[in-house]
Amino acid sequence: MTQHADVVAQMRQLIQILAQHNHAYYVLDQPVIADSEYDQLFHQLKALEQQYPDLIQADTPTNKVGGQPLSKFESVTHAVPMLSLGNVFNQDELFAFARRAEERLPNQTIQYDVELKFDGLAISLWYANGVLVRGVTRGDGETGEDITHNVKTIRNLPKILSSAEYSIPEFLEVRGEVLMPKSGFEKLNAANLAKGEKTFANPRNAAAGSLRQLDPKIAASRPLAFYAYGIAQCVPHHGLNTMSESLDWLHQLGFAVGERHFVCDSIQAVQEVYEQINQERSQLSVEIDGLVIKVNDLKQQQQLGFLSREPRWATAYKFPAVAALTTVENIHWQVGRTGTLTPVARLNPVAVGGVTVSNVTLHNIGEIHRLDVRIGDTVSVYRSGDVIPKVEKVWPEFRPAEAETVQLPACCPVCDSPVVMPEGEALARCSGGLYCAAQRIEAIRHFVSRKAMDIEGLGDRWVESLLHLNLLKDVSDIYHLHEHREALLKIEKMGEKSVQNLLDAIERSKKTTLGAFIYALGIRGVGETTARMLANTFQTLDALRVANLEALKKTPDVGDITAEWILDFFQAPHNLEVLDRLLAAGIHWDAPLAPTRQPLNGESWVITGTLSKMGRDEATQMLQALGARVSGSVSSKTKCLVAGEKAGSKLEKAEKLGIPVMNEDQFLSLMAEYGQTQG
Ligand code: IVH
Repeated sequence: MTQHADVVAQMRQLIQILAQHNHAYYVLDQPVIADSEYDQLFHQLKALEQQYPDLIQADTPTNKVGGQPLSKFESVTHAVPMLSLGNVFNQDELFAFARRAEERLPNQTIQYDVELKFDGLAISLWYANGVLVRGVTRGDGETGEDITHNVKTIRNLPKILSSAEYSIPEFLEVRGEVLMPKSGFEKLNAANLAKGEKTFANPRNAAAGSLRQLDPKIAASRPLAFYAYGIAQCVPHHGLNTMSESLDWLHQLGFAVGERHFVCDSIQAVQEVYEQINQERSQLSVEIDGLVIKVNDLKQQQQLGFLSREPRWATAYKFPAVAALTTVENIHWQVGRTGTLTPVARLNPVAVGGVTVSNVTLHNIGEIHRLDVRIGDTVSVYRSGDVIPKVEKVWPEFRPAEAETVQLPACCPVCDSPVVMPEGEALARCSGGLYCAAQRIEAIRHFVSRKAMDIEGLGDRWVESLLHLNLLKDVSDIYHLHEHREALLKIEKMGEKSVQNLLDAIERSKKTTLGAFIYALGIRGVGETTARMLANTFQTLDALRVANLEALKKTPDVGDITAEWILDFFQAPHNLEVLDRLLAAGIHWDAPLAPTRQPLNGESWVITGTLSKMGRDEATQMLQALGARVSGSVSSKTKCLVAGEKAGSKLEKAEKLGIPVMNEDQFLSLMAEYGQTQG
């Protein structure tokens, strides 16, 4: 009983939403959702009706066609109703369509006519003795609107029929689609943009908007085209036998037909055509949203007849839906290797373009707010391009009362350290970089790297094995590895010698500089230079640990956001635990040179060209040891340029700005004066 009430409520809701969108599409020509989204809603309703046929609502749109015509045009009742087509979306459904036709036509061979499914507006044209007398929109399928004045302005549409081969019928009603070819659409939008007028979202909207103008001059100015795809009435009878002959005949009388058109001997061949056209779709001159598959023989079409709103002899074979509807079951926060927190929606699994999607990233908290997505919401999931699925739209209409909003967590879901997001940043991060298991691999890699603690030999292979043995929970465990010599020896291909080499390298790394150690901590925004500036400014780790925001911001090279990251790092309790363990393990350094004793303190130097006696890194280190900053580009603030062989534009610029230039030898003798010699 309750379940039935739920189903009825769901049906009512879908019917109401579909009615709104139908009105927007057919009557106002202002669709607010994509056709594929409409299809999803429609199919959801149809599936419910199939499952609960007893509960089908009397006003369901699944057995009628469009909306009511607008009153401003004269209404015309179609002598032959303009029906719609059923849809198939994949090979199985296509084959099922063919099976149903075969079962009704026992022992008959069936050929299929395959046409482009134009994404425009269906219209009907009346010709009396070969003269165009009326054009009518589809409307609700029974009654449409008289748009003769506009239809007459469509350039490729014959106003008078003529043919050398065929006689012209006394009365002819032709069905087809009005649309705006892609090139015309682009030109129209570009022109509108230049005039500051409104642009159209897609060719279909542009065509619809143009056809429904009361002033035919407007329609005339729009690049519309008509493509014929069927004959509704012909007096006297045309005597044609197949769909494809009808298209040829229409073409002979002066109508444009689709630029591709096939006759297939089997439904397998139809599938092949579908795959081919899906590939070539972007090269076509018009927008299509699929193919129309029709039983080719007109007598067979008659035998098959109609079912409610659709012919049994034809179906639309839509291109893969790149969107699907599903519900958000939960939203989790994932911590990346660099500490970023990414919200991930866990979905009720749904097929999107042939792939089952059950998780989809929501990128950041800003995106959650933009979409206003909540746990329990119904969403449209798109696969943009080929791979990454995304939530394109939330349907507040379907929001259950108990839907939950999502907040940025205060603490990291992996390590419980505070989550931080400085103002102006889009991404939230876990501040427990030294401790957080999610960030462990990156933290270790960075910690051991050459410019940090420089532990040679502790490469990715070692790290992986050590993590596997649970010997590295955080970077401080590196200095306890010697306690696990036996376990290390058991690691595949790690002999006595390599274990000893590793332990020696670890031991050697304990003597470092404060700058290298600060850099090794992997604080966000703190690169090698900034780390050295911090060391020089604060002189001790203890002073840096307790520095306030103001003091941090005053450090050369530290911007406002980096200052916040530094503060957050030293406020995360777990990081401090790891720091203490590192120091307890014996990491030490000599007191850095006091800034006042640094002869090149605060100067900006640039190195360019090839140095023959040393590498650029070495020259950089020498300069930095004397308090200079080494920058990548020459500006008026540059103190001096060191120019090696083949120096190019930087040398030119320095000369232009009158900045002192030194060659390699001059540089080396200056360094020697300050006690910096090559290592
Ligand atoms: S034949 C009994 N052929 O698709 C209906 N329709 O979703 C026979 N359409 O309203 C329609 N291209 O506007 C047919 N090559 C084609 C078509 C085509 C586009 C449209 C048509 C129809 C809608 C059905």
